[in-house]
Amino acid sequence: MSDKTMKLTGQGVDVDLPILSGTVGPDVIDIRKLYAQSGMFTYDPGFTSTASCDSSITYIDGDLGELQYRGYPIEQLAEHSDFMEVCYLLLKGELPNKEEKAKFINDVTYHTMLHEQINHFFNGFRRDAHPMSIMCGVVGALASFYHDSLDISDEHQRLVASYRLIAKMPTIAAMAYKYSVGQPFVYPDNNLSYSANFLKMMFSVPCEEYKVNPVLEKAMDLIFMLHADHEQNASTSTVRLAGSSGANPFACIASGIACLWGPAHGGANEACLKMLQEIGSVDRIQEYIGKAKDKEDPFRLMGFGHRVYKNFDPRAKVMRETAHKVLAELGVQDPLLDVAMELEKIALEDPYFVEKRLYPNVDFYSGIILKAMGFPTEMFTVLFAVSRTVGWVSQWNEMIADPIQKIGRPRQLFLGETQRDFVKIEDR
Ligand code: SDX
Repeated sequence: MSDKTMKLTGQGVDVDLPILSGTVGPDVIDIRKLYAQSGMFTYDPGFTSTASCDSSITYIDGDLGELQYRGYPIEQLAEHSDFMEVCYLLLKGELPNKEEKAKFINDVTYHTMLHEQINHFFNGFRRDAHPMSIMCGVVGALASFYHDSLDISDEHQRLVASYRLIAKMPTIAAMAYKYSVGQPFVYPDNNLSYSANFLKMMFSVPCEEYKVNPVLEKAMDLIFMLHADHEQNASTSTVRLAGSSGANPFACIASGIACLWGPAHGGANEACLKMLQEIGSVDRIQEYIGKAKDKEDPFRLMGFGHRVYKNFDPRAKVMRETAHKVLAELGVQDPLLDVAMELEKIALEDPYFVEKRLYPNVDFYSGIILKAMGFPTEMFTVLFAVSRTVGWVSQWNEMIADPIQKIGRPRQLFLGETQRDFVKIEDR
């Protein structure tokens, strides 16, 4: 704990607030005693200037466009690692050696199946249900099947629940897709890698042999790595807040899925592809740039802007390269890629976007890749949830193990009616 302080004076208040420093990144003003010492709250809707916790998992520098998982730059992990290693790294804090990696993969692989009764949940949904609604429902319902991993005070049970969630999300995601197209569910294949197994559960059918395309397997694994964690984003903060009440891990992850669904967050990849389809051709780009700049128009350029990155999103750069590789491998000429490339070029030269420091984010190119790989648009955010589950469970474990954590309970600036007496209906 540093001995640095900051004095806050005025309005009859004169308090010294401790300044805390991390290993990297901005210092923080510790305001935990502010209300007791001043009778005032801080005010920060959207938490744009608020650190909600300590964490050692992911670090982002929005100005430098840097993203590090446990200190390793995302670019290096994208080039040299794989999603299972990244899961181990996020959960345990270090890259695994060969034996640790093999055991982790084995442990996750042998949790990929679901209790057979869970299949019945799907029949309660309409075939055209959005798969994110199915993910919210089925993941939350896992709590009624896995009673031996609900006790959050038991570190072993927390770890089992974490492995189960990482392992079962692809199975549930693929089942949500199969249900929507009326094809039979495909059981996990333990001989395949995490990403290859997911592609097989998604796209294989019982009447034909299915061979995983290694380029698509690598692209899938890369997309999972890039989306795995991102410090205290909206859905991770939701998981932490739900977990702070002592809710079980499956309920907490279901709350994260619900939050991720929003188009301002994880739903942006689906919204971005739909926007590119609506623009349709390069010659209509300026019309949409105008809409994005028009304060009276609620339209926003989906896949652009970020609460933290005020320079490029390092994930978007890797995604752009992957988009070209996947489309070349598949021999796909997607005009939407041309629209996206031209839109990016025009937006990055437009004063509005330059002044507001709006750059393509992780969602800008992911939809083009996923569409080329055969995923329907509604599945894009589901894939984001599959990947982000390891980030959510890592942050959830960190929160529970934090000795200073307590139930999250923000306050407010009240602008409503002051106390008044009840009026009988005949007198209103
Ligand atoms: C993700 O937090 C995370 O880490 C999220 C994420 C993760 O990995 O978990 O990175 C994943 O959610 C990425 C973001 C995906 N969302 C989108 O692509 C949707 C489109 N983007 C916007 O909705 C917006 O940029 C947000 C929600 C991402 C950020 O919202 P902010 O913080 O309110 O944006 P801002 O304060 O930086 O905006 C500054 C200005 C505002 O105008 P003024 O009020 O100053 O006049 O830029 C405008 C905004 O209106 N603006 C946009 C815009 N994004 C911001 N204008 C047009 N198009 C946009 N996309």
